[in-house]
Amino acid sequence: MSALSSHREAPWPKSIFARNLTRRSGILELMDDLGEAMTTGRGELLMMGGGNPGHIPAMQAVWRRRMRELMENEAAFDSILADYDQPAGNPGFRKAVAALLNREFGWPITARNIAITNGGQTAFFFLMNRFAGDFEDGSHRRVLLPLVPEYIGYADQSVSRDLFTARRPKIELIVDHSFKYHIDFDRLDITEDVAAIAVSRPTNPSSNVLTDEEISRLSAIAKQRGLPLMIDNAYGVPFPGVIFEDVRPVWDEHIILTLSLSKLGLPGTRTGIVVAREEIIDEMSAINAIASLANNNIGQALTRPLMENGEILQLSHEVVRPFYQEKSDFALNQLRASLPDDLPWRAHKSEGAFFLWLWFPGLPISTRELYQRLKARKTLIIPGEYFFFGLETEDWPHHRECLRLSYTQSEDTVRRGIAILAEEVIRAFQEAEATQPG
Ligand SMILES: Cc1ncc(COP(=O)(O)O)c(C=O)c1O
Repeated sequence: MSALSSHREAPWPKSIFARNLTRRSGILELMDDLGEAMTTGRGELLMMGGGNPGHIPAMQAVWRRRMRELMENEAAFDSILADYDQPAGNPGFRKAVAALLNREFGWPITARNIAITNGGQTAFFFLMNRFAGDFEDGSHRRVLLPLVPEYIGYADQSVSRDLFTARRPKIELIVDHSFKYHIDFDRLDITEDVAAIAVSRPTNPSSNVLTDEEISRLSAIAKQRGLPLMIDNAYGVPFPGVIFEDVRPVWDEHIILTLSLSKLGLPGTRTGIVVAREEIIDEMSAINAIASLANNNIGQALTRPLMENGEILQLSHEVVRPFYQEKSDFALNQLRASLPDDLPWRAHKSEGAFFLWLWFPGLPISTRELYQRLKARKTLIIPGEYFFFGLETEDWPHHRECLRLSYTQSEDTVRRGIAILAEEVIRAFQEAEATQPG
């Protein structure tokens, strides 16, 4: 049964924790839609909503091969299933990841700078609540999102009160129905209550990749203010490498970088990786022990030799990235073919991740309403409003005019989904025109 299908409430009063985490949040709606599309609705729903990775045959072959190798090594296999992992993660895996990052980027890190969590989502649940929320001295601190739209999965993670304060981006209009967001440094305004700064790079939902210059400015500001800068690298380099821009990843003692195995095609293994100064790693380990004892260790076991011999880099570069680049190009071409040139539409410059972020300036209905119309036609997208948390948006129509469209599913799904989306958008504009006086 779908998690959203029951509207009944349990008869017991809710703690603040329960009130916050049982809300009908955007991420719950998204994961519920996704789960339905992947199970009972498979073949029936056109799934362009969630961020499920595509099933890449060459990668699936690698994971099957690795699983066979593990099973052939009986002692190792038995240990994976029968032994709890350490709360900071498997020491050999942590060492392999540190060595890889060290070789690739020259970062001065060791296994003591690496913690594993049950997915990047869990890492952010720990980190966001570690830095922001209610403090013992009565103060309330927030995480600054220097550019929204930002990842919907952060929005409802607070165990206390609102966690975020966000800033609008600068919008660069690019010819041929395109645009790109930039951090508006003039409006960054780091108030006293800011406890940390967070960005995803590439950004989910817009696919925006903050430039090296933007990151280095942000990093300098954070360092100067004594704040941590969290960079969510779920799609970035060195793995899974779903980034179409040639930018440099960074790490420093005040930077907390997260990676994940999910977008390599292993979301089922729930493996997130935190790269941070040692004290933060110790804290992650302590929280992990309390919240979940230990991590899922299968992803670590599957990928460890690939981290050690560098195969993961080659796969990311030669298999994963081209797969998504091609999907992005395909989806953009479908859009161009389906949406009339004189219709007001723009797609954010596609720079990575799994999504096209569409903007329909002057759209007469909100994209939330559009989502409902599309869902009625068995086509799933994510309305843009969810991605603008931490910001007063009432006077800014932009947040109701955007939507996220995932292109990871089959060409047939994307082609049919975009055709239906185009019909509904055109219809919305035509309806408004028909009701205009005169
Ligand atoms: C930007 C971003 N961060 C983190 C996550 C969490 O991924 P996971 O928990 O599977 O590692 C996602 C998943 O879609 C994401 O898009």
